[in-house]
Amino acid sequence: PAAPRVNPSILAADFVNMQAELARIAGADFVHVDVMDNHFVPNLTFGPQMVGRIQETSPVPLDVHLMIDAPERWAPEYAELGAASVTFHLEAAADPVALARRLREIGARAGVAVKPATPLENLYDVLDEFDQILVMTVEPGFGGQSFMPETMPKLARLADEARRRGSSVWLQVDGGISASTIEIAAEAGADTFVAGSAVFGAADPDRAISELRRSAAR
Ligand code: DX5
Ligand code: ZN
Repeated sequence: PAAPRVNPSILAADFVNMQAELARIAGADFVHVDVMDNHFVPNLTFGPQMVGRIQETSPVPLDVHLMIDAPERWAPEYAELGAASVTFHLEAAADPVALARRLREIGARAGVAVKPATPLENLYDVLDEFDQILVMTVEPGFGGQSFMPETMPKLARLADEARRRGSSVWLQVDGGISASTIEIAAEAGADTFVAGSAVFGAADPDRAISELRRSAAR
């Protein structure tokens, strides 16, 4: 299998010192950028203006996670500003395949995310339409929550299904990923790991990234 990817979530960074925070995670695979609209989730972060500046500033490509209603209205804008990857929520999308196609057309990797209680079976037949599937391992909205192990069986079934179909889709987990939970998610089949507090809460974030990568590869 491919080397595990670790994408630090800047939700756990100091928003007022973003340029310095981005420099502390220069060894990351992608920078995970959580966009929240206070409708799809009960929290609010930032929009295209801020993400555009992060795109111009970050030495590492962006992995944008849209926790917003009406993603068809906004997701293309993030692809257009240069994000390497744009992930919208299945629960919020009217036509997930059409939106994924639009994102790829613009040149971004297309991702679809599901909340902990949302089943994944409906995606099995359209896996090729996506570059990444994000299985939330906490209820989306806030950093620093506890990993939900009950999400692992559906991730493991998805990983089996992807293998069986010869799919190269990346399987991402997000929420409560730390040195003590990353192995559980890797074992279930995840290859891409978002970590907020575990990276930015460490004295040396770049070192925390390497350690997480190593734990995931075990
Ligand atoms: C939660 C966000 C996550 C969050 C993860 O809704 O999607 O990306 O930043 O934070 P930790 O790693 O602290 O759970
Ligand atoms: Zn996220």
